[in-house]
Amino acid sequence: MSAVPPDRLAALVAAARDARLCAIAPYSHFLVGAALETTDGLVVTGCNVENASYGLTMCAERVALLKALSEGHRSFSVCVVVADTGKPTPPCGPCRQLLWEYCGDIPIVMANLKEITAELRMKELLPLPFDGRLL
Ligand code: THU
Repeated sequence: MSAVPPDRLAALVAAARDARLCAIAPYSHFLVGAALETTDGLVVTGCNVENASYGLTMCAERVALLKALSEGHRSFSVCVVVADTGKPTPPCGPCRQLLWEYCGDIPIVMANLKEITAELRMKELLPLPFDGRLL
């Protein structure tokens, strides 16, 4: 059972699948889409953008998050990540750090082109986070 209402979940998964089609992934050929929902119901999407230096690659989740933050959004309710894999594609370490800082303990829904593969909260993905409370 998802923490996200079924109609919202379907819309977010569809948005993340669409965003995935914009991925620029000539090196890994691993296309990822993300859809981040603000608490006022807006959906901001992202895709991974790779670079010949490899290390400058931006993940779909970070693209969505930085787009949203740069447009003034500060409060988020859920993030959906889509890749074409049977196993869930969870956010990488740097994405977890940023999602925790700016989104808090939201559900992260992982899906592929057919179905939902997993849903975990940020606290499960990053159980002992480093954040501003420790500074
Ligand atoms: N990638 C994402 O965009 N999000 C994830 O959650 C996992 C990995 C991208 C980065 C890179 O372009 C490709 O997938 C392979 O690592």
